Amino acid sequence: MVRVGLIGCGSIGADHAGWLSRRQDVEIRAFCDSDESRARGFVERFGGEYATSDPQIILRDESIEAVYVCTRNDSHARLGIAAAAAGKHIMMEKPLALTDRECDALREAVEKSAVIFMSAFKLRYEPAVEKARSHVPHPLVSIAQVTDSRWPDDFWGNDPVQGGGNVLSQGCHAADLLCYLHGSRPAGVVAYGGNMHHQGIGIVDTLTAAIRFANGSLASLVVTDCGRTPLVSKFSVQLLDGTMTAHLSDRLKSVTLDDGKHTTVHAEPQETGLAAENADFVDAVREGRQPRATLSDGIRATQVLLAAVKSLASGREESVVE
Ligand SMILES: NC(=O)c1ccc[n+]([C@@H]2O[C@H](COP(=O)([O-])OP(=O)(O)OC[C@H]3O[C@@H](n4cnc5c(N)ncnc54)[C@H](O)[C@@H]3O)[C@@H](O)[C@H]2O)c1
Repeated sequence: MVRVGLIGCGSIGADHAGWLSRRQDVEIRAFCDSDESRARGFVERFGGEYATSDPQIILRDESIEAVYVCTRNDSHARLGIAAAAAGKHIMMEKPLALTDRECDALREAVEKSAVIFMSAFKLRYEPAVEKARSHVPHPLVSIAQVTDSRWPDDFWGNDPVQGGGNVLSQGCHAADLLCYLHGSRPAGVVAYGGNMHHQGIGIVDTLTAAIRFANGSLASLVVTDCGRTPLVSKFSVQLLDGTMTAHLSDRLKSVTLDDGKHTTVHAEPQETGLAAENADFVDAVREGRQPRATLSDGIRATQVLLAAVKSLASGREESVVE
């Protein structure tokens, strides 16, 4: 039995809690939200012993071995550092952090405590991603996009402190996929973009970046909330190696594979990534191993975006901090 506490009882917290509550080998002990009524609502919906507005109550609870950090972006690193110091295994929502400094502090705390840490990159766990990866194991070039409908100006994700804008908040999904699918370290990033249509808010809402990997392969990445492109959906990734190609689309439920002669399409009816990532985390805690999407993966994805944002100001290629 893996005993869990969940901090941040909002939209993604409900998705994780729903999965946890259906799993026989998990016991949800407690929910925490700075708005305690939300935590109480989660206890009523998903079970658990108690609700609190104080994360320290969960971190001091010796019956809890693993915590889910499902708060907004500005509190992830701080809560992760506190959870690691308390010896709790951690499943952390993306992005892990909003600055290089937070990345460093989180890395240091987690490595020091040697807890199990998972970066919540559910897209990586879609079966179509593995099909694309085995069809094009060594892409020379890739094209990735995260193109979302316009985020309202007053949405928390567009708050420069709480969310950092869509580029930092959800671009890390694509940055992680690119690093994973290229199987190489991102060496340099050069980017154009800025605040194209959220005047008056201090965030980057649109970014086009070229990423150079250590193995010489290249990726092109577009992240924006200038509109959703219905043909391929919000998330799309294409891999090309000179002969073979793979195109992940339909929120990565679908992949079109081509070998120069034949084209095949594999499509799943439902997204299964969230269930699969949770299963990996719970199994990892039980088995005492790290999950597939690690702390380093989460930090690297954030650092790719931070390097791209730095490049907007410098006009030069920026290296990705290791
Ligand atoms: N992996 C994914 O595909 C995915 C999808 C959606 C959201 N997310 C991420 O999940 C996180 C939460 O997003 P959401 O849409 O559920 O937001 P939300 O606003 O619906 O929920 C966040 C909750 O955290 C609470 N909270 C904020 N700071 C807190 C603190 N310090 N202590 C305790 N509670 C606190 C808020 O009161 C709120 O109830 C974000 O980081 C977001 O980027 C990931």
